[in-house]
Amino acid sequence: MKAGGNYRLVVLISGSGSNLQAIIDQTGVALPIEIAAVISNRPGVRGLERAQQAGIESRVLDHKAFAERESYDLALADLIDGYRPDLVVLAGFMRILTPAFIQRFAGRLLNIHPSLLPKFRGLHTHQRAIDAGELEHGASVHFVTEELDGGPLILQARVPLLPGDDAERLAARVLTQEHLIYPQVIAWMAAGRLCMKQGAAFLDDKMLSRPLMFDQLESAQR
Ligand code: GAR
Repeated sequence: MKAGGNYRLVVLISGSGSNLQAIIDQTGVALPIEIAAVISNRPGVRGLERAQQAGIESRVLDHKAFAERESYDLALADLIDGYRPDLVVLAGFMRILTPAFIQRFAGRLLNIHPSLLPKFRGLHTHQRAIDAGELEHGASVHFVTEELDGGPLILQARVPLLPGDDAERLAARVLTQEHLIYPQVIAWMAAGRLCMKQGAAFLDDKMLSRPLMFDQLESAQR
C-alpha cells in the first residue's frame, strides 16, 4: 500500500453506477482506499445519487458544454488532477478518450468492459455475443491505452449463455461478475501488486501474458 496516506481514487461514470456501488461497498472492507470524487459527464444519473448517499464528493462535467473532444478531455483531466488521485477508474464512462488524456494518466487508468476481450470491443456487447452464438460471455478489467478496449488485460470473469437469454438478462448476470472483479483489481493496485510496464500488465512482478480468470484465481493471488 502507498505510504503516508490513503490510496485515492477518482471514479468516472455516465449512468447507473452499479460498479461504483460495488467499489463503495468494499471501501474500508476489502479495499483500503478513499474515493476522492465521482465525476459524471451526464447530469442527473443514478450513479451521482449513489455517490451523494455515500457522502462522496460528486461533480458533473457535461460534455455537451464543450465544442471539441480535446477541450472536454483537458477540462476533465484538470478536474481529476485537482483530487490528486493514485488511480482513475472508468466505471461505465461511455466516452472515447483522447490520446492526451490517456497519456496523462497512463498506468493509473483502469476500465471495465462487458465482454471477454478481445472479443466484442465497443458497444452492444451482450446482443452481439447472443447473435454470434457464443457459449460464454463475460467482463474484462484492463489498463487503458490509446487502442479502444485494447489495453493490457488483467482480470476476466465469464458467464454461460443460457437458453432464452436476451441482452438484458445476460447484462444483469455479467454485471454481478463485474462487481466482483473490479474491486479485486483495485485492491491489487492499492496494494502495489499490479502495474503496467512496457505495454503489459504485471501482477506480483509476473507478466500477465494472458488475463487472469476470476473463477481460477489461486488464493495467494486474491
Ligand atoms: C457496465 O456493464 C460496464 O462494463 C459498461 O457499462 C456498464 C456500466 O454499468 N462499460 C462499457 O460498456 C464501457 N465500454 P454501471 O453504470 O451500472 O456500473
